[in-house]
Amino acid sequence: MKSKVLDFSSPLYILAPLAGLTDLPFRSVVKKFGADLTVSEMISSNALAHNSKKSMKMLEKSPLENPYSVQIAGADVDIIKDAVEVLNGFDGIDIIDLNCGCPVPKIVSHGSGSSLLKDLKKMGHIIETIKKYSKKPLLSVKIRIGFQEKRPVEIAKVCEDSGADFIAVHGRTRAEKFKGEVDYDAIGRIKESLRIPVIANGDITSYEKAKWVLEFTGADGVMIGRGAVGNPWIFYQLRYGTKKIDPALKKSIILEHFEQMIKFYGDYGAILFRKHLHTYSKAGYCGASSFRDRVNRTTDPIEMRELIDTFFDTKNLLAFKKAS
Ligand SMILES: Cc1cc2nc3c(=O)[nH]c(=O)nc-3n(C[C@H](O)[C@H](O)[C@H](O)COP(=O)(O)O)c2cc1C
Repeated sequence: MKSKVLDFSSPLYILAPLAGLTDLPFRSVVKKFGADLTVSEMISSNALAHNSKKSMKMLEKSPLENPYSVQIAGADVDIIKDAVEVLNGFDGIDIIDLNCGCPVPKIVSHGSGSSLLKDLKKMGHIIETIKKYSKKPLLSVKIRIGFQEKRPVEIAKVCEDSGADFIAVHGRTRAEKFKGEVDYDAIGRIKESLRIPVIANGDITSYEKAKWVLEFTGADGVMIGRGAVGNPWIFYQLRYGTKKIDPALKKSIILEHFEQMIKFYGDYGAILFRKHLHTYSKAGYCGASSFRDRVNRTTDPIEMRELIDTFFDTKNLLAFKKAS
């Protein structure tokens, strides 16, 4: 299938939405490494319908994000319709994605996210509503394979029959949260049963794994979440089948990510960047734990930048120290 905004004729590499992590600065960095599609963090349809300042900020995209998908969560058909109409007013959004996978109690208790997997009639009605009112080229749905019990094909078919143009499947139930084996077999059965493209998601962290998942499931692409955190170059590695990433390039990307955070969030971006520094510093550098300690106490962007500059220097690589 080749649509105006996405070409499904070869495997797609997609960045998963991760609330609190895959914001504009992170997505723009990932995009540089060749991700085919980036998705906004989950935005509440209620907040969107009320034009909340925070959700308007979350809608912003980098000029590199082309195509761009916005993920909404909700359970009330009328509010979802209002949210879609708000999105219709924004240029540069190519896809509306419905969240049917979030396991977080606060979301589930409102009937949104994975809670919709318990009421497929309602889920179908919401998808039909988005399809009816959206003026965007594509509609996608992100699902899990069940709430408590596994019902992968049944859930996926409701998405297709209600008008989804493609789906992304996290191969776990809501009960499994983020642990437990990902059921790639279930993703494969979904792929066999649907006409629309299917994207496989869950625990894909390397070129080898991505290749295996694509072959095993027959999926039209892979979606990567946690495997990209602290590791945005994974999309380059996936595309070119290489593990290598030049440490100097790594450093320049980390600095660029940091600059983008400050640009987007102001000085507060330095504090928000701590969690990224924790993952970026995980492997290969000397003094990682004292670096993280310093980072946790720093609020000043200038000081933070200096810390990053020194720590990620190639001279601070474990391999460099061992060799010299
Ligand atoms: C911190 C965190 C935040 C997440 N936020 C979202 C979200 O906003 N929307 C969504 O559909 N999924 C969300 N997910 C689920 C991921 O998109 C993905 O389906 C899941 O992490 C499995 O893929 P992975 O193993 O590649 O991370 C989140 C997961 C994590 C760990």
